[in-house]
Amino acid sequence: MSNNNKVYISELTNSVGKEVTLAGWLYQARSSGKVLFLIIRDGTGLCQCIVEKGKIPDELFEQLKRLGQESSLMLTGTVRAEQRSVGGYELSVTNAEIICPTEGYPITPKSHGVDFLLKNRHLHLRSHRQWCIGRIRHTVIDAIRRFFNDNGFILIDTPIITTIVGEDQQSLFEVDYFGSPMHLAQTGQLYVESAAMSYGKVYCFGPTFRAEKSKTRRHLTEFWMVEPEVAFIDLPALLELAENFVSFIVAQVLQNNRSDLETLGSDIASLEKITPPFYRLTYTDAVDILTGQKTKDFLAEQLNDLQTQKQQTESRIAELETEQTGQIKQWKKDKIAAELIELCAGLAETNTKIENNPRHAALAAEFRWGKDLGGSDETIISQMHDKPIFVTHYPKRAKAFYMKTDPKNDKVVENFDLLAPAGFGEIIGGSIREDDHDLLLRRIGEQGLNPETYNWYLDLRKYGSVPHGGFGLGVERTIAWVTGEKHIRQCIPFPRMMDKVYI
Ligand code: 4AD
Repeated sequence: MSNNNKVYISELTNSVGKEVTLAGWLYQARSSGKVLFLIIRDGTGLCQCIVEKGKIPDELFEQLKRLGQESSLMLTGTVRAEQRSVGGYELSVTNAEIICPTEGYPITPKSHGVDFLLKNRHLHLRSHRQWCIGRIRHTVIDAIRRFFNDNGFILIDTPIITTIVGEDQQSLFEVDYFGSPMHLAQTGQLYVESAAMSYGKVYCFGPTFRAEKSKTRRHLTEFWMVEPEVAFIDLPALLELAENFVSFIVAQVLQNNRSDLETLGSDIASLEKITPPFYRLTYTDAVDILTGQKTKDFLAEQLNDLQTQKQQTESRIAELETEQTGQIKQWKKDKIAAELIELCAGLAETNTKIENNPRHAALAAEFRWGKDLGGSDETIISQMHDKPIFVTHYPKRAKAFYMKTDPKNDKVVENFDLLAPAGFGEIIGGSIREDDHDLLLRRIGEQGLNPETYNWYLDLRKYGSVPHGGFGLGVERTIAWVTGEKHIRQCIPFPRMMDKVYI
């Protein structure tokens, strides 16, 4: 078959009435005897292709009819605009070439368990949901680079094999570096700090590694982080940079991925509200909120809503189970089975939330000034807001050695976490850095770190030290928040989690 007229599905808008060739994989097929309805995906979209018996050789028609899901093929035909069809166009097929007929593709349109899909991640990447998430990831990463490049930041590539502890000693991945112990980077921050003294405004962007023993929906052991660092900046200006940056990312996703967001069921109306200014709370305000009456009332109301939701889901499940036992067509049975899997997963999640609610309420009520905010505390504060929230000025003893002590209150540091709204939680951590040599040396000692390995970092405070600061945004957490995905493992092509690395 000639490749001359080959177009991508995303370009069909320019091909109405013309004969073109599509090259792709069979996503779904349906037959009504004399007509085949083949939905093809080619990486840029989906298109329904209609094959009528008699319009192509009979033998080819029969071969197409027998084709299994994910067979690869090329189809030639005339393009028609068709509002009701997936993607808005259809192809009336006049010729076909089968490239690799496939049988028994393991991932069928019905629902599968998470474990099965992660084991088959190399194939699951082709599914429509993962495809949408991958496209959004692409936009998020492009927006990150664009924002910094367009605002005068210089990209600095920082090492992955490092000699220093960047965040904390408990979550290091050790590397045997020709007999010397080293570790994988938890952050590029300390290195970009030195580059900021050369270029003024810099950022690093790459994978980071944490051997955190956390199996939560927010933790990966390998995740991507972007870390800007700016010389001569104070905390208010750093918060402004962060809110402009996050708003830009969200705006880019809204502009480029609206249909992906719709497919994923993301909360587009809430994303449209993500514009500066974000909320600003101090850590002390956050503690007052957590331990106050407003939180008690909020959590009690939430428990009520969850119980209503549970009852509604249970009655829908009962309804479907009755329907399933009746005399119904196979396609309807499959549809009900798929809905039941979704509903049961949703019910399990609601039950977990109902179980956790009193524990989280107790943790919040008993929270005492001085502790770091836990996942459930962040969730509560984030659920109470409709836009991201900066929480600033955490207790010094709960935070990393490099954060600058607040000159007005030596119990707290000039730092912030940015919590995404509606219960998602932290997506950014950042701070102004301690720029005083002796204070920094003392903090390194207090945290039990070896000052020798930080000599070069301390040099930055000897030679032209300036106020400076920066932050780190976690890419997968940002994607999970924007898309509404419950677990960040879906937001990276090949996730690495504490309990399992699949492929
Ligand atoms: O708050 P963190 O630990 O900050 C730093 O690493 C600083 N050195 C950044 C800086 O100031 N340059 O991590 C920053 C962000 C978190 O807010 C979160 O989004 C993400 O990195 N993150 C993780 N994402 C997925 N899995 C994990 N285990 C993560 N740990 C942190």
